[in-house]
Amino acid sequence: MAILVTGGAGYIGSHTCVEMINAGYDVIVVDNLDNSSSESLKRVEQITGKAVPFYREDVRNKEAIRKIFKENQIEAVIHFAGLKAVGESVREPIMYYDNNLFNTITLLEVMNEYGVKKIVFSSSATVYGIATEMPLKEGMPLGAINPYGRTKYFIEEILRDLYVADSGWCIALLRYFNPIGAHKSGLIGEDPKGIPNNLMPYISQVAVGKLEKLHVFGNDYNTVDGTGVRDYIHVVDLAIGHVKAVDWALQHTGCEAFNLGTGNGTSVLQLRNAFVEATGVEVPYVIDPRRPGDPDEVYADATKAKEVLGWTAKYGVKEMCEDTWRWQKSNPNGFEK
Ligand code: NAD
Ligand code: UFG
Repeated sequence: MAILVTGGAGYIGSHTCVEMINAGYDVIVVDNLDNSSSESLKRVEQITGKAVPFYREDVRNKEAIRKIFKENQIEAVIHFAGLKAVGESVREPIMYYDNNLFNTITLLEVMNEYGVKKIVFSSSATVYGIATEMPLKEGMPLGAINPYGRTKYFIEEILRDLYVADSGWCIALLRYFNPIGAHKSGLIGEDPKGIPNNLMPYISQVAVGKLEKLHVFGNDYNTVDGTGVRDYIHVVDLAIGHVKAVDWALQHTGCEAFNLGTGNGTSVLQLRNAFVEATGVEVPYVIDPRRPGDPDEVYADATKAKEVLGWTAKYGVKEMCEDTWRWQKSNPNGFEK
């Protein structure tokens, strides 16, 4: 029996494949490589010493997905495949709805055909919309403030409806906070195409000399030092959260959301300073205007994941910075040679 990992060549997917294999699972990856490279899977094989069967297919292609289910004994799916850039989703909403919604619906249809009713879905803290209270708890009201966020919110709703219609399913909605860091080996990590949108890859590309300086988006927020606060989580901790969610899904039925965060908030300048301290490399910065739509503070209450899944994040910001840097300095151009 195997676990199908959609989007498994990507940043979180590749780290999750490593932890799933370490936990004794067989994984099969389907990815169209739109935002990744098959080199990441070769590195997963190098780290684990296990072969990772790979299908280069789009999850919207129903016949291709059927073929994967026909050829393999799949007992559960971890569904990462999707587009994830907030700004791009505002410019290209149809592309986001087309990919994220249709790939999920196609996948669910094929899972139903094959009687596979266990799914772990990549949701996001963005489904809390504009929250008025911190920390965020799973029972708080949901919403969305951009097309990307709406795709996550809509998919959660679809999955909740699916469970209402058929209580034989087990669905884990994993709401990630801000994943950063890389595997300790330095062999896999985040490899954004073009100029990074997110803070940590931007910091590490400044450190490695690919970008000139960090632009801090606003220092007049209502936070510890005026810069935005987020709940950064080490990608390996996040990956282990998926292992725990699969363990749980294989033993239960239900539809449950789980926050995967550390519960600790870190500001932009605190993260930049922690990176400089952990690596000894200078990261020059300037203060720029706020980025539209950015909230002051976002952090998780991750008690439910601890109580139900037996999962808590282990790594702190120091390791997140050290591990990001090990990956970045040994792979300045990501997976491109
Ligand atoms: P990623 O882009 O590195 O990985 C996504 C993978 O899915 C890529 O390898 C891409 O090629 C593939 N893909 C996209 N559309 C596909 C399709 N139709 N068929 C097959 N493959 C397809 O992104 P990531 O950071 O690893 O994120 C994984 C998931 O987690 C995404 O669903 C994302 O929305 C979600 N998420 C990410 C973050 C974050 O900050 N990284 C936060 C919250 C949620
Ligand atoms: N920031 C900068 N400079 C940069 C990039 C970011 O100052 O170059 C700041 C932002 O203003 C914010 C913080 O760093 O205060 C974190 O920004 P990121 O872009 O790294 O992360 P976000 O919290 O904005 O977004 C992340 C994911 C989204 C998801 C969102 C909510 O990237 O996909 O969390 O869950 F929707």
